[in-house]
Amino acid sequence: MLPIPYQDPIDQGPLIQEPAGFRNPRTGTVYPDRNGIPVFLPPGVVEGPNALYQKMYDRFAPFYGVLTRLYAWWKSGADANRRKAYLDLLEVHGGASFLEVSVGTGANWQYLKPDMDFYGLDLTAGMLDRCYRQARRLKLRFELCQGLAEHLPFPSAAFDCVFHMGGINFFSDPRAALAEMVRVAKPDGRLVIVDPLAPESDAKYEIYNRLERLRDPSHTLTLRLTEFLRLFDEAGLEILRQSLRRRQRSFNNWMLRGGHAPGTKRYLETRKLMEDSMDGDRGGFSAQSLGEDLHFVHNEGMFLLARKSCA
Ligand SMILES: C[S@@+](CC[C@H](N)C(=O)[O-])C[C@H]1O[C@@H](n2cnc3c(N)ncnc32)[C@H](O)[C@@H]1O
Repeated sequence: MLPIPYQDPIDQGPLIQEPAGFRNPRTGTVYPDRNGIPVFLPPGVVEGPNALYQKMYDRFAPFYGVLTRLYAWWKSGADANRRKAYLDLLEVHGGASFLEVSVGTGANWQYLKPDMDFYGLDLTAGMLDRCYRQARRLKLRFELCQGLAEHLPFPSAAFDCVFHMGGINFFSDPRAALAEMVRVAKPDGRLVIVDPLAPESDAKYEIYNRLERLRDPSHTLTLRLTEFLRLFDEAGLEILRQSLRRRQRSFNNWMLRGGHAPGTKRYLETRKLMEDSMDGDRGGFSAQSLGEDLHFVHNEGMFLLARKSCA
């Protein structure tokens, strides 16, 4: 067990560890243990887009690592470079406590200094199982749990660094998730958020998000840069560094990562909307035909953040 204890994700009370899992002595709720990974998902909490997301990612988890590596190969290591560039900003010291919210398969952990305490939370069991194997292979000191970004099962002011990459556009409540990340970071801790950015223009924003939802119905909303800036300000955060990247993507690969092979109904509908939007770049994807495939751009924002008083 690493030093940061779990607490109840709902009433934030202390938990007692028992053979069956973690029990809240006040409410009697037991959070079960699943192969060494505690499950902090009280009944009725996983609803709406989060429930859809959980199903989709559980179905998709077996392919995620392979497709991520295939994609990296196709881009000659670009995915690894992209992850390293963001993680280098953390400036974490040996022994630091590091939490990745929505850790997925743990694809980022191989690029971090191994002498830290790694904590990972994700909504989907399939992703966590892969992360567990990856962390064991890397011989890291780590703890994994299944839970929701909107209800973190950790005490306040616990982590030196809280990292999140790629899930805000799927969350049911991004504002609540960000408030939780701020709560569990130490007062002088750092947060890093990496997520796609939607176009500012209202017309492009509408088509952009319609297309993302068509590909994946659990997609809630990709936010615009201006919406992120407002969220950070409302959460009491100051931006220490910020970088915006244009991430070139293959449409076919992106659809496969969502579970849709060329020729399937969902593939054809999404491709049609992408192609219809190309004239005048009406969806903000900068899409172009390339043989059988299309190439398009996901703009991505990276923000290194600290509490305003500690920036
Ligand atoms: C695009 S993947 C990113 C995974 C990882 N951070 C990476 O960089 O490879 C998004 C992850 O968010 C998780 N997720 C989605 N909604 C969530 C929520 N409400 N709370 C916690 N995790 C969530 C999914 O299960 C998935 O593993």
